[in-house]
Amino acid sequence: MKTLVIYYSLEGNTKRIAELIHQKYVGDLLELIPEKENPKEGFGKYFWGGKSVIFKESPQLISVLPDPKIYDLIFIGSPLWAGSYAPSVHTLLNTVSFEGKKVALFICHSGGSTISTFNNFKKQLPTSNIVSFHGFKDPLAQDPKAVDQELQAWLSEIK
Ligand SMILES: Cc1cc2nc3c(=O)[nH]c(=O)nc-3n(C[C@H](O)[C@H](O)[C@H](O)COP(=O)(O)O)c2cc1C
Repeated sequence: MKTLVIYYSLEGNTKRIAELIHQKYVGDLLELIPEKENPKEGFGKYFWGGKSVIFKESPQLISVLPDPKIYDLIFIGSPLWAGSYAPSVHTLLNTVSFEGKKVALFICHSGGSTISTFNNFKKQLPTSNIVSFHGFKDPLAQDPKAVDQELQAWLSEIK
């Protein structure tokens, strides 16, 4: 089974989970990198990131987008931003068709509700087979062993 793990990460949490997933499967890892990155600090970090989600912006990406057809299972990961996935993931979902593909979704958050994000994913992926959705609370701030156990438990649900 060939697997693709696609993610966007501003501060490394989603990247960490994506890398751990990638280590457990045969396949590829793709980071979504916007041409203009969001500020990582200060007022602008939340202001510009939040604005970009609210206005449903689709930033230009540097990354070469994948051909989902060659994969059996595709993971898509994002941080939770203002109640949804990050704008770079919005660009991915607007640009690439995941029709008929088996998709597993993950989100990293700081304790906020992930329900609206899952609903937004479902709206954007109406023709995909969404097999699972999981939220990880700021994994870089947690005990790595606990994160690995949580991840392993989640992956074991994905058939
Ligand atoms: C612009 C912005 C908006 C955010 N909005 C939320 C939110 O609504 N709820 C929440 O729980 N965390 C929110 N966060 C925190 C991140 O989702 C969280 O720290 C996540 O683990 C970061 O992932 P990353 O390190 O891959 O970027 C926000 C962070 C940023 C930068």
